[in-house]
Amino acid sequence: MNSTETAGAVATSAQQKLIASLPPDFRWGVATAAYQIEGAVAEDGRTPSIWDTFCEVPWAIDNNDTGDVACDHYHRMPDDIALVKELEADTYRFSVAWPRIQPGGRGPVNPAGMAFYDKLVDELLEKDIAPWLTLYHWDLPQQLEDAGGWPARDTAYRFADYAMLVFDKLNDRVRHWTTLNEPWCSAMHGYVHGVMAPGKRDFAAGMAAVHHLLLGHGLATARMREAAPHDTEFGITLNMGTADPATDSAHDRDAARSADGLGVRIYLDPLVHGQYPADVVEDLAARGVKLPVEDGDLKIISAPLDFLGVNYYFGQQYSGVGEDGRTEDDQGLPAQRTVPFGKPTTAMGWEILPGKFTELLTRLGRDYPGLPMVITENGSAFDDLADESGFVRDEDRAAYLASHIAAVAAARLAGADIRGYFAWSLLDNFEWAYGYAKRFGLIRVDYETQQRTIKQSGYFYRDTVRRVRGS
Ligand code: FCB
Repeated sequence: MNSTETAGAVATSAQQKLIASLPPDFRWGVATAAYQIEGAVAEDGRTPSIWDTFCEVPWAIDNNDTGDVACDHYHRMPDDIALVKELEADTYRFSVAWPRIQPGGRGPVNPAGMAFYDKLVDELLEKDIAPWLTLYHWDLPQQLEDAGGWPARDTAYRFADYAMLVFDKLNDRVRHWTTLNEPWCSAMHGYVHGVMAPGKRDFAAGMAAVHHLLLGHGLATARMREAAPHDTEFGITLNMGTADPATDSAHDRDAARSADGLGVRIYLDPLVHGQYPADVVEDLAARGVKLPVEDGDLKIISAPLDFLGVNYYFGQQYSGVGEDGRTEDDQGLPAQRTVPFGKPTTAMGWEILPGKFTELLTRLGRDYPGLPMVITENGSAFDDLADESGFVRDEDRAAYLASHIAAVAAARLAGADIRGYFAWSLLDNFEWAYGYAKRFGLIRVDYETQQRTIKQSGYFYRDTVRRVRGS
């Protein structure tokens, strides 16, 4: 079925009006990440990353799924890029797998691994699609984890070396460079909550990881910028949401403040203002933790950025009073829990809150002015039902897109400097700890046959892009 005729009906007229306010030169992309789609984990010299190792831990991943094959993109790349073109996206956000470029995380470039991205970039440019390259989307070479991982300072320097290997090869063709994707997830889910690779549970290690991720970003940015042609742009992508107090009580307001501190300000304050937020430093001290900042680090971290990548999925409400009515947890630390707004959720259990997206973006524009933003990820998982041809009539996902693109337009009208929107994701893929159970794609992947089928939401996205462009 060609769903063009139904696509317009998904967005309400108020949303259509907002979306129509986006400028014709607004950037429209689709996003992926290396480990989630590539497969071919042992080919052409690639060594294991922390995700290969984590996938071997029994039940770390739903269904014990792994990224071994994923979408087999490594072998199907040109066909997948043809699909990006079919969606009429002008930008493709992808990540480079560090263990393909520099097996083991040190030493010279692995030409066979680099050749894949070299071809990918050429394929994109041939189709007039701008490559938007992310250097690190969570696949740390396992050997660097064995040497201490992100809690170790040396990893920041290793990252900058790796960045330069990629930059030297591709900077003649790639204009947009993102250092890190979502350092919050690397630090918190990886080293504190233990739900993502490398699966550690150590708060102090997580905070050291935050600082070294930021340091790695700064070191890499400085070196790339020095070697860059004039029109190259550098940025970082952060996942952010809103943190509201559940009530106006002092405990709830403090819980929201500290969540915002660890979620947003611990990254953006050093990046933009060159200092860690004082209240966060105090919260950490109360837990006996000090960020491992050395002289000169904050200057490196706050090197100018050309853009901020914003990944938004949901906002949260916080209470500083536990279910049991206590305001302290078992360790004597202030209680903190999330309280749902009571709105419908996606298949991830994430509440659908487009209004909070507008709030987040206007707040970022206000608190961190002068920094152009690009939405580098936004999207939704739903329990898709495919017909026998593989087609998915996912009005839920299309409606999510409509409300969230309208939310971006509303934030622009309120003054936030937002230059583009990239849908997560091009394809259904390996959704980290959820394995293949959660589908975020605009395009369905049948994992048995690797057949790709554009979903209704994919057509909706294409038609939205067409309308805004006036094409
Ligand atoms: C983000 C990740 C991305 C994807 C989406 C759903 O946190 O950056 O890889 O998993 O969530």
